[in-house]
Amino acid sequence: MKELIRLNDVAVEYSTILALRNLNLTIYEGDFLGIIGPNGGGKSTLMKAILGLVPIAQGEILFPDVKRKKVNFKMGYVPQMSELNRQFPISVFEVVLTGKLTSKIVPFFQYSSQNETETLDLLDKVGILHLKDRLISDLSGGEFQKMLIARALSIRPEVLLLDEPTAMIDNIAQKQIFNLLKKLSKEVTIVLITHQGQMLLRQLTRLVYLNKNVIAEGDPTEVYQYFYQQPTRRKRTVTVEEVGDES
Ligand SMILES: Nc1ncnc2c1ncn2[C@@H]1O[C@H](COP(=O)(O)OP(=O)(O)OP(=O)(O)O)[C@@H](O)[C@H]1O
Ligand SMILES: [Mg+2]
Repeated sequence: MKELIRLNDVAVEYSTILALRNLNLTIYEGDFLGIIGPNGGGKSTLMKAILGLVPIAQGEILFPDVKRKKVNFKMGYVPQMSELNRQFPISVFEVVLTGKLTSKIVPFFQYSSQNETETLDLLDKVGILHLKDRLISDLSGGEFQKMLIARALSIRPEVLLLDEPTAMIDNIAQKQIFNLLKKLSKEVTIVLITHQGQMLLRQLTRLVYLNKNVIAEGDPTEVYQYFYQQPTRRKRTVTVEEVGDES
């Protein structure tokens, strides 16, 4: 299996808070990796560290492919809802189209008609083409998340990182988003933080339970049952390989 991202002994601190410590984790090409764990366990921090949005205090994060082929390793990111400003006066189409902006500054930059066609295709793929001219402030929670997924895909990422894309949205939209991710997982490597992991256990390739470091990693059903089953049934399923201390 080809390694895309490897975290070696990573620690992240926010002034006095140690959010991650001694964290080792590898993400492979084709993974559909689920990440679960308690509130404040460092899940969002892990994603931000991979994206270079927070500095690491110790260890290293490697992208083996980049070294080998000098490729431009692109990551699509859907941040946790609470971190976004939804009041910005911009349409759904424009948000997804901005994913096509190049990092170079080009005077009088214009999007090509190919960019526009691809953007419409992406909106169709995530099921919100009919909302393309809607202001983002007027979207439901589920529609907003679908738009963010389309935007993350617009850069044609090697890896798609999603931080609780189904938090605070209704059951129907949740199912739609999980179905969409199932389909996308055939085309792109996915790392998904979720509190609704039980809905995807059969689709995920691996599940990680994170609390400052990787407490358990392995078969999704086994890891999930180990942490969330009734205590009486829990004794029988301690087959999960525990790889760290939870403290
Ligand atoms: N910018 C910040 N400044 C200071 N502390 C922070 C910051 N961001 C996160 N933390 C702290 O770091 C720890 C890990 O937070 P993080 O957001 O990564 O957890 P999480 O697992 O994503 O939690 P949740 O399930 O609630 O989203 C928490 O104790 C949190 O309070
Ligand atoms: Mg979080």
